[in-house]
Amino acid sequence: MTQAIERLRTSQQTFTALKCKECGERYELGAKHVCEECFGPLEVAYDYTAIKNQVSREIIEAGPHSIWRYKAFLPVESDTPIDVGTGMTPLLKANRLARQLGIKELYIKNDAVNMPTLSFKDRVVSVALSRAKELGFTTVSCASTGNLANSTAAIAAHAGLECCVFIPSDLEAGKILGTLIYDPTLMAVKGNYDQVNRLCSEVANTHGWGFVNINLRPYYSEGSKTLGFEVAEQLGWELPDHIVAPLASGSLFTKIYKGFNEFVEAGLVAAKDVRFSGAQAEGCSPISQAYKEGRDFIKPVKPNTIANSIAIGNPADGVYALEVARKPHGNIEDVTDEEIVAGMKLLAETEGIFTETAGGTTIAVLKKLVEAGKINPEERTVAFITGNGLKTTEAVQSHIGEPHTIEPKLESFERAWERAGTLNRLDWQQTQV
Ligand SMILES: Cc1ncc(COP(=O)(O)O)c(C=O)c1O
Ligand SMILES: [Zn+2]
Repeated sequence: MTQAIERLRTSQQTFTALKCKECGERYELGAKHVCEECFGPLEVAYDYTAIKNQVSREIIEAGPHSIWRYKAFLPVESDTPIDVGTGMTPLLKANRLARQLGIKELYIKNDAVNMPTLSFKDRVVSVALSRAKELGFTTVSCASTGNLANSTAAIAAHAGLECCVFIPSDLEAGKILGTLIYDPTLMAVKGNYDQVNRLCSEVANTHGWGFVNINLRPYYSEGSKTLGFEVAEQLGWELPDHIVAPLASGSLFTKIYKGFNEFVEAGLVAAKDVRFSGAQAEGCSPISQAYKEGRDFIKPVKPNTIANSIAIGNPADGVYALEVARKPHGNIEDVTDEEIVAGMKLLAETEGIFTETAGGTTIAVLKKLVEAGKINPEERTVAFITGNGLKTTEAVQSHIGEPHTIEPKLESFERAWERAGTLNRLDWQQTQV
């Protein structure tokens, strides 16, 4: 085994080029994201024979307890990438939620506790900034709906990189504080995410910075594959039957798909037509609308939803997300803000997981699809929870109970206890277990 790991350490580079997703044109592995021939997006291409020679289930299992156990599948050369413990989050068997929904085998992939900033964005940023260092960038940046700003600022601080991040100015307080604590330059733009993104494209042209989701996007987006890898490994080297994940730009969704396919290609898991279902908020549902209307193009929308983290009106990977959802008979569905709050509460009350609005969207869509018969109760289903509820407390503030404030006296407690009807609640809980 030691020898096998040594072989992995000294192994040849497995990523070979940037390749246009539309016309196939190949480019050098620099900071570039758009094809010069057709303006299509660029993606990292790999030598799968080289990957096959370097990985096995045993080698991966003996690797680091982080996304870097899958380094052969990631576009980073260095043997010492930025490792802040990102990845290997719990895959929780959600029995109580499954029973409530009426399905048999449900799992929650819980990136609400991903390190270091409690969202799946730590995966993509760990990869993007590792590559940014290799490409010689000393300042990094991003256009963010909140979580990406948190991750970029934190991981840049750890790596000693200068950092300037851009967000819409009306984000939740937790997202703003969760960026400022790392002391980046934070630009709060008076506009929505799509306007922030447009501004960042201009800044990327005038400053020589590494924008994780613009000129470094081909590397950044590969980080999301690790969610797919981990689920396959945690299910005992098997793919699930059905997955549900949130859609903003659509990148995460398409990369979970790519991750599953790469594990099949590398001989690590058996092939399976996994069904992919995407979740959007009704107030920002350009991909869901295109899916329902049978279109293969996206009509941009103006976001109006509490689910800020997934409020992208003009999604860069929307058309690719549509393709993935259509391939093996998946779905894309949207839910109202009320359903999103109910989804957050349902996950908290049944499984003890406090997710943010994006996770509430995923759970609400999961529920809607089960009720509509679009998820078979027999399917082994995985719902991807991608962010933490403590960052979006505003969403649930007026939908939860209040503490019982009492005097530090036994009688005061007894009165409050009776008032709260807790005994009844305990009876109720006993009937649930
Ligand atoms: C918590 C959370 N979940 C999901 C997403 C969707 O990511 P993508 O843009 O890759 O579709 C985001 C994007 O910002 C997010 O913050
Ligand atoms: Zn092209």
